[in-house]
Amino acid sequence: MSEMISTSGLTKKFKELVAVNQVNFRVAEGQVAGVIGPNGSGKTTLFNLLSGYFPPSEGQVTFQGEDVTGQPPEARVAMGMARTFQLVSVFDHLTVWENLVLSNVRFRHNGSWLTNFFFKNARKKAILEYCQESLDTVALSDQAGTVTSELSYGDKRMLEIAIALSLKPKLLLLDEPLAGLSDHEIGEVIELLQKVKSDFTLVIIEHKISKIMDLVESLSVMNEGAIICEGEPDEVLSNTDVRECYWGREDC
Ligand SMILES: Nc1ncnc2c1ncn2[C@@H]1O[C@H](COP(=O)(O)OP(=O)(O)OP(=O)(O)O)[C@@H](O)[C@H]1O
Ligand SMILES: [Mg+2]
Repeated sequence: MSEMISTSGLTKKFKELVAVNQVNFRVAEGQVAGVIGPNGSGKTTLFNLLSGYFPPSEGQVTFQGEDVTGQPPEARVAMGMARTFQLVSVFDHLTVWENLVLSNVRFRHNGSWLTNFFFKNARKKAILEYCQESLDTVALSDQAGTVTSELSYGDKRMLEIAIALSLKPKLLLLDEPLAGLSDHEIGEVIELLQKVKSDFTLVIIEHKISKIMDLVESLSVMNEGAIICEGEPDEVLSNTDVRECYWGREDC
């Protein structure tokens, strides 16, 4: 299997705090990978480095064989990388449909894309089709005209995932997509991810390992900025270091 994304010696320092410390992370094409770890262990910062929201202090990010370390987020989106954020980040005052279309303009933003969107009908048509398709996939089509503030938290999450899907990612990074959801909503998101996971490579950050055990094929465990263990989920969970850092601190 070829490599979708990898990092080498990836490090992020916030003054004296080393949030991500010499991380060598690798995800093969088509893989479903989980990243777990206690609060503040560097999971979100790792995603921010992978997606270009922060420049690293040291190290490289390689995406589909290309060094993208110096590339801004929109260039990575254009190459096929999409992400969601830990806190729901949709515009409450816009409708579901407006959020989708606007996000496509926002995340795909670059001069030529904007020109294409507004002036090239074929391109515009394709984008609108992607938006509709992704809304169907998350079963929110009948809410297209609903103002987003009226959606349940679970449906806002689904909208965020729909936005990411509408970008037609090759790599999808989901930062705690199950956080704050009811058990029923968690079941719906997991079911959706099971349904669409074969379309792309998926990396999912999650706090509670048990929720994603059936979904992921590999697990990487972060602690204090470093990956302390990785491999098949069952192996990882029986690792002594993992049990020490993770078990006991919280309900897994
Ligand atoms: N922009 C920032 N400026 C300064 N410090 C930051 C910044 N972002 C993260 N940190 C710090 O880096 C460390 C890692 O944070 P990060 O958000 O990556 O952890 P996390 O594993 O995602 O935690 P959680 O499970 O709570 O989401 C923490 O100590 C955090 O306070
Ligand atoms: Mg986080």
